[in-house]
Amino acid sequence: VWSLHVFLVFVVYFILFILFFAETPVFVQKGNDVLLNVEKADVVQDIFSVVWKLNEKDVLIRFSPGREPIVLSNYTGRVEFSVNNYSLKVKNLQETDSGVYTARVTRDIEELTEYNVTVQDAVSPVKLKVDSVSRSSDSCNLTVTCNTQDSHINSTIRCDTKTCSQEGGEQSEVTTSGASLHVYLVNHSIICNHSNQVSWTKDIEMTEHFCTQHDGNTEKQND
Ligand SMILES: *[C@@H]1O[C@H](CO)[C@@H](O)[C@H](O)[C@H]1NC(C)=O
Ligand SMILES: *[C@@H]1O[C@H](CO)[C@@H](O)[C@H](O)[C@H]1NC(C)=O
Ligand SMILES: *[C@@H]1O[C@H](CO)[C@@H](O)[C@H](O)[C@H]1NC(C)=O
Ligand SMILES: *[C@@H]1O[C@H](CO)[C@@H](O)[C@H](O)[C@H]1NC(C)=O
Ligand SMILES: *[C@@H]1O[C@H](CO)[C@@H](O)[C@H](O)[C@H]1NC(C)=O
Ligand SMILES: *[C@@H]1O[C@H](CO)[C@@H](O)[C@H](O)[C@H]1NC(C)=O
Ligand SMILES: *[C@@H]1O[C@H](CO)[C@@H](O)[C@H](O)[C@H]1NC(C)=O
Repeated sequence: VWSLHVFLVFVVYFILFILFFAETPVFVQKGNDVLLNVEKADVVQDIFSVVWKLNEKDVLIRFSPGREPIVLSNYTGRVEFSVNNYSLKVKNLQETDSGVYTARVTRDIEELTEYNVTVQDAVSPVKLKVDSVSRSSDSCNLTVTCNTQDSHINSTIRCDTKTCSQEGGEQSEVTTSGASLHVYLVNHSIICNHSNQVSWTKDIEMTEHFCTQHDGNTEKQND
């Protein structure tokens, strides 16, 4: 019974640890800058040192009051450190700049601020193509494909005289580059949306363009 008690206390502390010490996620578009602030930047008195690290190994900045901040040589010109609030700005981010940035502010106690920075390229354009249309007097079926550079996704749309629906509901896929590809229906529009955390592109086709009722004949069109 006691060992279970000890185990539960351990689990609770572990969960609290995860909640309070997890890194803040930050997503940045490739080529942009990021500004990372330390927590409690308003309390900057009586500090002994400030150290900014990347992935717990590269010391980007080392600062003690009254001295010039020391910048890791290969980051000279790419980072800006504020001696007033200890924020770090990293400029023109590339994929290789992704990682966990940690600020360790030492005064009477040590305070850690951690950011998990992920640099992403803007997503590529998408093209939504209607592959086939089959129409009758009271229904119209479309099959569509949404293409990006590295992936594609299919969907079937059925319309009656009033409404349209998507077979199987919204279709989605995670591409090899980690972006999402979604095909969904909003009213009578078919939308393909290619997105990641920093950007999105879309293409739209109106079902009316393919499903307008001319006559009662069943037509079939393929391309
Ligand atoms: C900077 O130099 C350090 C130490 O040589 C190295 O570990 C790190 O990968 C370099 N960073 C960049 C962005 O070149
Ligand atoms: C810290 O200083 C930098 C540079 O002066 C500024 O851009 C940033 O907004 C400041 N951060 C806070 C939290 O005040
Ligand atoms: C940082 O965020 C990325 C993207 O969400 C994730 O894949 C990675 O596991 C995170 N790293 C850490 C150390 O939490
Ligand atoms: C559209 O698909 C439904 C379900 O498969 C079918 O009942 C209907 O006849 C189809 N309509 C046309 C015009 O192909
Ligand atoms: C998409 O459509 C093409 C052509 O009709 C078909 O060969 C392929 O299997 C379909 N893919 C999916 C995931 O449904
Ligand atoms: C869809 O249609 C409804 C009813 O006509 C309308 O209120 C709504 O704004 C439309 N949504 C979009 C995204 O166009
Ligand atoms: C596409 O997806 C992104 C991310 O989920 C969202 O912010 C954006 O509004 C969507 N665009 C459209 C046209 O729905």
